[in-house]
Amino acid sequence: GGSSRVMPAAPRLVIVSNRVPAPKERQQLAGGLAVGLAEAIAGRETLWFGWSGDASDNVAAPQITTIENLTFARVDLTRSQVKGFYEGYSNGLLWPLMHYRVGLMEYRRADRESYEEANERFADALLPLLRPDDLIWVHDYHLIPLGAALRARGVRARIGFFLHIPFPPLALFEALPDCDSLLHDFAAYDLVGVQTRQDADHLDAAGRARGARLRVQAFPIGIDPDGFAAQARRAEAGRDVRRMVDSLGDRALILGIDRLDYSKGIPERLRGYERLLQRFEQHRNKVMMLQVAPVSRGEVAQYKALRRQLDELAGHINGSYAEFDWSPLRTITRSVPRGTLAGFCRLARVALVTPLRDGMNLVAKEYVAAQNGEDPGVLVLSRFAGAADELAEGALMVNPHDPDAIAEALDQALRMPRGERRRRWQAMDAAIHTATAAQWGTSFLADLERLDPQENAEADH
Ligand code: ADP
Ligand code: F6P
Repeated sequence: GGSSRVMPAAPRLVIVSNRVPAPKERQQLAGGLAVGLAEAIAGRETLWFGWSGDASDNVAAPQITTIENLTFARVDLTRSQVKGFYEGYSNGLLWPLMHYRVGLMEYRRADRESYEEANERFADALLPLLRPDDLIWVHDYHLIPLGAALRARGVRARIGFFLHIPFPPLALFEALPDCDSLLHDFAAYDLVGVQTRQDADHLDAAGRARGARLRVQAFPIGIDPDGFAAQARRAEAGRDVRRMVDSLGDRALILGIDRLDYSKGIPERLRGYERLLQRFEQHRNKVMMLQVAPVSRGEVAQYKALRRQLDELAGHINGSYAEFDWSPLRTITRSVPRGTLAGFCRLARVALVTPLRDGMNLVAKEYVAAQNGEDPGVLVLSRFAGAADELAEGALMVNPHDPDAIAEALDQALRMPRGERRRRWQAMDAAIHTATAAQWGTSFLADLERLDPQENAEADH
């Protein structure tokens, strides 16, 4: 409607994500999803709705905070929903499945019910806050059924969805007992965005094979490269980076930064580093590897097992190769301030980004952004990261299952002449300036806005 308006204002944007950042000023938002969205919503009236991150058993209305034209609405989950919906179905089942790790899936019907129930609860809490001409954008695997739940409550606004993680080939996806209902949930959205062409092909093929009509397109997420570069330059003079420089002496820093997640290939990376120390003796005592991996989803069994594995491997490597005045590896399982991480990126001669499967991997892009272009470091990157599509020209590409390949790439990176480092970095820097966070958000929303809502595939049932 709205034909009486002379200058049609942009419709209000409603973002729904499982995790909503604590209400703060825009420029303080951190993390891929939050940074990307902050860019997309700049200057636009926005409601950001989702889980508060807290559990409470007396179900209350959303807590609402408004800062200028951005309103945050956060709801609690019950303790049993945190277990069943978040730890169980979302992170004990969908996460491994979507990352091609069918063997790690833990399926329980009670978790499935909790997943449905949490999505219904989100829909009930969001419904009274909605206006007819809102543009609704739902994020990630926790909330796949939300669009259908809103449609069932009579919402006719345009609803888009973005999957931040990969989508596996059909033969793997079919391992999910609820695969059909999930595909039909995808079909309730006017537009489904994924990270890469490969993910789009997989989701599209799954929909076709199982009779769900989907509109899927790839929108690779990016970062704010100039913002991150500025943060890295500022941090260079800061206390944390100076302490790090002092502790390194003239040794080269090799850096890994990830949530402690089995999709990130952290044990594989450490085995590759161990192989470097074993096969290329000239680097012993000339390098130091720092792995920052804050505990994530620490209540989920597969994540507990990974933490034990990391501790054991790190102890083994240090025990085998340390000298009395040098340890080859430091690991930190706490979170580190974003500015400090940016400074470490700038300092590192090599970044090791070796996921076994990753939707995009923003750390790879952040490492590129943080470099001094006159004397840049080298990115060693897994071919199984979504970011490989954009960065393969400049990075040293590896298959993380092969520790010798990682060791050889590390050796090549540590010896690489400055001219080659600069050429490779320039190609990557151009790529991260092409597909930025702002570009990702605005292009998804422009496509969603352009659609005719009446075309909804299976929406109005
Ligand atoms: P994922 O979304 O799976 O965690 P990404 O690499 O795409 O992986 O995004 C992670 C984001 O979180 C990046 O912006 C990264 O800088 C940030 N991050 C990762 N590890 C840490 C850490 N140890 N401390 C603080 N921020 C981190
Ligand atoms: O896409 C990556 C992602 O799963 C986000 O959806 C999520 O918010 C983030 O990783 C961190 O995980 P969590 O919210 O489980 O701490």
